[in-house]
Amino acid sequence: MDFNKIFKNNEAWVAEKLALDAQYFEKLAQGQQPEFLYIGCSDSRVTAEDLMGVLPGEVFIHRNVANLVVSTDNNINAVVQYAVEHLKVKHIIVCGHYECGGVKAALNPSDMGQLNSWLQTLRDVYRFHKTELDAIEDTQTRFDRLVELNVREQCINIIKIDHVQRAWYNTGFPTIHGWVFDVRTGKLIDLKLDMKKIFQEVRSIYDLHPLIHSAK
Ligand code: CO
Repeated sequence: MDFNKIFKNNEAWVAEKLALDAQYFEKLAQGQQPEFLYIGCSDSRVTAEDLMGVLPGEVFIHRNVANLVVSTDNNINAVVQYAVEHLKVKHIIVCGHYECGGVKAALNPSDMGQLNSWLQTLRDVYRFHKTELDAIEDTQTRFDRLVELNVREQCINIIKIDHVQRAWYNTGFPTIHGWVFDVRTGKLIDLKLDMKKIFQEVRSIYDLHPLIHSAK
C-alpha cells in the first residue's frame, strides 16, 4: 500500500464523519466515557473496533503481543488504573485470537531476543496447563486450546491488580470477560469465564483487601 494513501483515506474519513454530523469532531474533543477496556493482541488482523463494530469513544484499548497482562508492565498497569479509577469502565475484556503468532512461538521454543522475556509469560501458561495440552494430539487443537487458556490466565492476572480489586470492593465493577476472535471465520467467541467464581478459588493467595487503602 502506498504510504500516502493513508492520508487520503483519513481525509475521506473526516469528510464522511462531517457529512453525517458537522459537529462530530467538536463532540469527540469534549471527552471520552467508554464503558469497556479491551486488551487484545497487536496482530494486524485483529482490529479491535472493527470486529466489535464500535465507534470512536466507546472502547478504551490496549494491545500488545499475545494480549498479555504482565505484573511488571507499567504500561498495562497504567492503562488498567486509568480505566477503572478515572473512566470507571464497567467491563474489562481480554481478547485472544486463534492463529496468534505469540502463542505459536510459545509452543515452539527458540531464541527470539527481546521476545524471550515477553513470551515467558505464555510459556508459563503452557507449563500450568501442560498435562491438558500435551494430552491433545492434534497440533491445531492444542494451539487453539493454548489461545483460550492464555485468555483465562490473563483474566486471572487482571483480578490480581490492586486497582481492579479496589474497584470491586467499592462498586462491584468491572466485570471481567475472556473472548477469543476466530480469525478463520471472523466470529467473536465469549469463553463465558465466571471470574467472580475463579477469584473465590484463588482469593486466599491474591486478595489484597485493598478497601482499607481506598480514599474514595
Ligand atoms: Co496474536
